[in-house]
Amino acid sequence: MDALQIIGQKPLSGSVSISGSKNTALPFLFSTLLFDKPVSFSNIPRLWDIETTLKLLQDMGCAYEWNKETGKVQIVPQVKNKTASYDWVKRMRAGILALGPLVAKFGEAKVSLPGGCAIGARPVNFHLEALRKMGAQVEVDQGYILASVPSRLKGATLVFPEVSVTGTENLLYVGAFAEGETVIENAAKEPEVVALANLLQECGIQIEGAGTSQIKIKGGNLKTPTEAIRIPSDRIETGTWISIAMATQSEILIENAAGAELAKVLKAYRAMGLKIEEENLGSSLRVVPQDRYEAISVETEPYPGFPTDMQAQVLANMCQAQGTSHMRENIFENRYMHVAELRRLGAKISTDGNLARVEGPTPLKGAPMMATDLRASASLVVAALMAQGTSVISRIYHLDRGYDHLDQKLQKLGACVTRIAQ
Ligand code: UD1
Repeated sequence: MDALQIIGQKPLSGSVSISGSKNTALPFLFSTLLFDKPVSFSNIPRLWDIETTLKLLQDMGCAYEWNKETGKVQIVPQVKNKTASYDWVKRMRAGILALGPLVAKFGEAKVSLPGGCAIGARPVNFHLEALRKMGAQVEVDQGYILASVPSRLKGATLVFPEVSVTGTENLLYVGAFAEGETVIENAAKEPEVVALANLLQECGIQIEGAGTSQIKIKGGNLKTPTEAIRIPSDRIETGTWISIAMATQSEILIENAAGAELAKVLKAYRAMGLKIEEENLGSSLRVVPQDRYEAISVETEPYPGFPTDMQAQVLANMCQAQGTSHMRENIFENRYMHVAELRRLGAKISTDGNLARVEGPTPLKGAPMMATDLRASASLVVAALMAQGTSVISRIYHLDRGYDHLDQKLQKLGACVTRIAQ
């Protein structure tokens, strides 16, 4: 198992290029189950979650080619086995995105129930209830979701009790194949949902309201895209590099940035005092460090609110600000696993339920740490870069799930980061 050794307080300089968005690429790759002919993608990030998704599709009978140098992937959809097995879904909860396409296209699916994970229970009951309402028979047996469609799926009005990103995405796939109109109320407005809706629209499906809380989909004939589909830049990787620039007090140019989708994150960092300038018509962000930062209060919310996937990184930066900062985590019930690790570096963070209080400025000192989930790992990297001395972060497979060679990108800018086998 790999670990990262980081010697902190080394100034970085230069530019970094943001890779393709993980949370857009995953639903796009699963969408190939809906098509009849081969589909190509470009700007696919080099991530474990992509590898897992492609292996899962292969397990179902699809063939694929992935050129990691060019970022191109081609998938030949030839589904023989409509099962997403536990072996794959346990590695990546987004495996639930196999459910919608299999039910939509083949009228049957056997998809492993994702387990809980470090950040909370993460149930999928909304997905299952919505499929039932559209005419699918759905049961859970021996850890698997078994879905079948006795007659054609029928459009329905589906109301999500809470905003769910992958839930909305699964219903977009199903709505595209159902008879009549499907209306999703309290739909997720995340850019990744809008991207999937746009893809389906380009393939001939009528969709209204993507990016709002009500999405209407008219089932129709889906045409296979003929040109390669490009994955846009990753907004959370962009935000993580802002966090890294502040942690290392370095001026960094972030290229291919997803700044337009990060309004609340930019606002939070600017409120702390960090200077972030847009360049190249907004496609690059220049982060300029300052001598003093102010405490802020932030709470996570569904898009366009402050993303839960940036909570851990900002929490590490709050250690640099004057006074008491507050963070409220509203999306996941147990997303403060990184706090205990950050405290090992000397961070003054206390939690009370979903509220975290951070006292600053607090100088951090390097220590061994353990990564617990994807974004927590990023926050440990941020803290290690900020800390005096050496830190070793173990279990960084979590980081490799969602960050495209972060260690190499850091090294290019001058960071003292070494990947070591443990
Ligand atoms: C997606 C993102 C993840 C991000 C999260 C919240 C992908 C692949 N992953 O995860 O990076 O952190 O959105 O922005 O896009 N819920 C239920 N029942 C359900 C579904 C959800 O109770 O059936 C709850 C969850 O436990 C959670 C909340 O709703 O508290 C939001 O979860 P959801 O948006 O579904 O997260 P994911 O789609 O898994």
